[in-house]
Amino acid sequence: MDLTLKIWRQKKEYEKGAMHAYQIKNIEPDMSFLEMLDVLNQKLINDGVEPVAFDHDCREGICGACSLVINGAPHGPDSGTTTCQLHMRRFNTGDTIYIEPFRGSAFPVIKDLVVDRSAFDRIQQAGGYVSINTSGNTVDANATPIPKPDADEAFNSAACIGCGACVAACKNSSAMLFVGAKVSQYANLPQGKVESKDRVINMVKQMDKEGFGSCTNTGACEAHCPKEISTDNILTLNREYIKSKLNQ
Ligand code: SF4
Ligand code: FES
Repeated sequence: MDLTLKIWRQKKEYEKGAMHAYQIKNIEPDMSFLEMLDVLNQKLINDGVEPVAFDHDCREGICGACSLVINGAPHGPDSGTTTCQLHMRRFNTGDTIYIEPFRGSAFPVIKDLVVDRSAFDRIQQAGGYVSINTSGNTVDANATPIPKPDADEAFNSAACIGCGACVAACKNSSAMLFVGAKVSQYANLPQGKVESKDRVINMVKQMDKEGFGSCTNTGACEAHCPKEISTDNILTLNREYIKSKLNQ
């Protein structure tokens, strides 16, 4: 496949960036999107041009690092798929592909396609820890019976990989889906009840401090989430928040 890539290049934070066009040839349809960028970068290095900076780690859909907006969609055209799991067979030879970083004022661009998502880390830190001992003196799983639907719900919420596509997809740059998933994964389990009040209040406070916007129920977050996290998590977040505020 021969492609034209239009890529956001930006030297550093707060510096003006621009889209740059690159031609690339002989891309195999079975290459992943990131492998295609590796090929481009090798070519740029050979040509004496600075390679494109982009984030990646696991390349198997579990770390959430590969934060690219591809043709206007966070993580590209396939639903339930991270950028690293997207394959070039999804495109046609002759295509022009637009590649940009995740956008959001709480996610400043560090360089080219790499954004600073440490705001998410600070929100999780604000949530604190679970005081119930879950290691060292491991008890039998059945010692704390949990209804299967609750366990399933908690598991689905815990599937969030913290990628930030929900923020990039949202016209308000809201982080409600991410925070909703992180609150719900504990709220649905007895082990998470002990600190539940402080957790939700502190996480929402930090979310607001970081500058994320509010949710206006457009559903763009769920549509672009590579782990298909449901907006039901936002309902749980709101319920937990109101409950905790009333009991303060
Ligand atoms: S909710 Fe989905 S889109 Fe948002 S951070 Fe988690 S996995 Fe990524
Ligand atoms: S590189 Fe880890 S999820 Fe894509």
